[in-house]
Amino acid sequence: MTTAKDVLVAHISDPHVDSHSPERVRPLRQAVAHLMSLPRRPDVVIVTGDLTEHGEAGEYEQFRGAVAALDMPLYVIPGNHDDRARMQGLFGEQGTHGLPGFMQYQVDAGPLRVLMLDTHVPGEAGGRLDGGRLEWLAERLAQEPERPTLVALHHPPLGSGVQVMDAITLDDPQALERVITAHPNVLRVLCGHMHTTTTQAFAGTVLMTLGGTEGTFLPDLGQPEKFVIQVQPGLCLLHHWRPGAGLTSFTSVIEGGRTLTLYDGQKWAGQ
Ligand SMILES: [Fe+2]
Repeated sequence: MTTAKDVLVAHISDPHVDSHSPERVRPLRQAVAHLMSLPRRPDVVIVTGDLTEHGEAGEYEQFRGAVAALDMPLYVIPGNHDDRARMQGLFGEQGTHGLPGFMQYQVDAGPLRVLMLDTHVPGEAGGRLDGGRLEWLAERLAQEPERPTLVALHHPPLGSGVQVMDAITLDDPQALERVITAHPNVLRVLCGHMHTTTTQAFAGTVLMTLGGTEGTFLPDLGQPEKFVIQVQPGLCLLHHWRPGAGLTSFTSVIEGGRTLTLYDGQKWAGQ
């Protein structure tokens, strides 16, 4: 049962809208339809980067067209495939307390907040939090040390064992670890980039990466020197915060779900 003060944050990642392959926008549209079909609508939607494949203006227009059906606020940060300046031009200033020069800001979702970090480095596949970005995070966290907080960024600070992907994660993860370890109110660190769904311990909290909207890549763990994957359905994460209970993260398949009422509040189905 929901209360007036619960918060639901929907998290999608890496749609890679691609002007060279126009059909790649279809899974993003399906993700939007999925979020809009949920009986408990998300309060906000976050996208952890790689909105586009090439960072082209037309791709961002396509992205914007695909997400237009969302009736809740949408917040985006850049990934390595993105063009920060184009995103800033198209999406404008997002959230509050924005860091000048970056797409880094705070999202206020009732009692919960999401700190959206910009790890983009033009021309590079890996990510970084230099140029004041890490200091901004430390300052925001110090401002409200009791408030339940999610930290979102494209590049994860930990690898998952696939060598070519582990080589392009976040640079200097220890620096981020030091900042977050000092703040036990950080309930999750949420990342994209890997196109696979993982859960790991990091900095005294829980680090999750998320499969992309167009597919989840389960790597062949027996061949870590290669990147051989089984492509599985696209996923989103639903982070549900309840007062007094904390945060529960649900994994939701974008396509193919069906609704069943197994318990109607008084009795189980079939009884
Ligand atoms: Fe990426």
